[in-house]
Amino acid sequence: MIFVAILAGGIGSRMGDTDTPKQFLNLGDKPILIHTIEKFVINDEMDKIIVLTPQNFINHTKQLIKDYISDNDKIVVIEGGETRNDTLKNSIDYINENYNIDDDSLIITHDSVRPFVTHRIIQDNIKAAKQCGACDTVIPATDTIVESRDGNVITDIPIRDYFYQGQTPQTFKINKLNSLINDLTEDEKEILTDAAKIFVLKGEKVSLVKGDVTNIKITYPYDLKLANTILRSK
Ligand code: CTP
Repeated sequence: MIFVAILAGGIGSRMGDTDTPKQFLNLGDKPILIHTIEKFVINDEMDKIIVLTPQNFINHTKQLIKDYISDNDKIVVIEGGETRNDTLKNSIDYINENYNIDDDSLIITHDSVRPFVTHRIIQDNIKAAKQCGACDTVIPATDTIVESRDGNVITDIPIRDYFYQGQTPQTFKINKLNSLINDLTEDEKEILTDAAKIFVLKGEKVSLVKGDVTNIKITYPYDLKLANTILRSK
């Protein structure tokens, strides 16, 4: 089976107005979150789309889905967690409580605020995760990366060819991800803010999927302006 977890449990503090988390702001004529969900609804390979939001936005999200998405039988809205990782864990727990999954079942995890994910990226994620067990969507770093350990002087300028910027989706075999998370110590849980990193640190392979420069994450008000420009150009 293939599950999608749309991570929409954040409050968007860097966007400013946290009363309305950024995933509920309009991009063009509908909320960012709806654009994102639509990209997965049109893909027949998805068995269930789990949307995770703050508790006080669950009903609002359900109503938005009714209003904007006609083919919505596969979508369920549940509560996210305090951190992005907690939100991801809630989706895994939901799957384990409600489905009998096999070792090949996949979870495609995607930021709710990356509305321009493409069909090609999703298909490449499925293919890569089936083969390797885990994959991460990336684009090559375009700027030179400068490292400073103290914020004052440069400690290193690594070779740019080896560096990529992480996007989402990140896709994993669910049982494998779940057992790696369960094996983490409390200290490891504190520092491991990225699911792909859990695989890497435990010595498991994570393959790279080519992302896209338009697959931006809306973080700051400027990104929403950029997203509107991308939307108009598509
Ligand atoms: N996210 C989540 N649960 C959390 C925190 C974040 O599902 N507890 C989601 C966000 O909703 C977003 C994605 O993870 O879709 C990427 O995170 P980020 O851009 O950092 O979102 P926020 O945490 O909402 O933003 P900020 O850090 O500015 O508060």
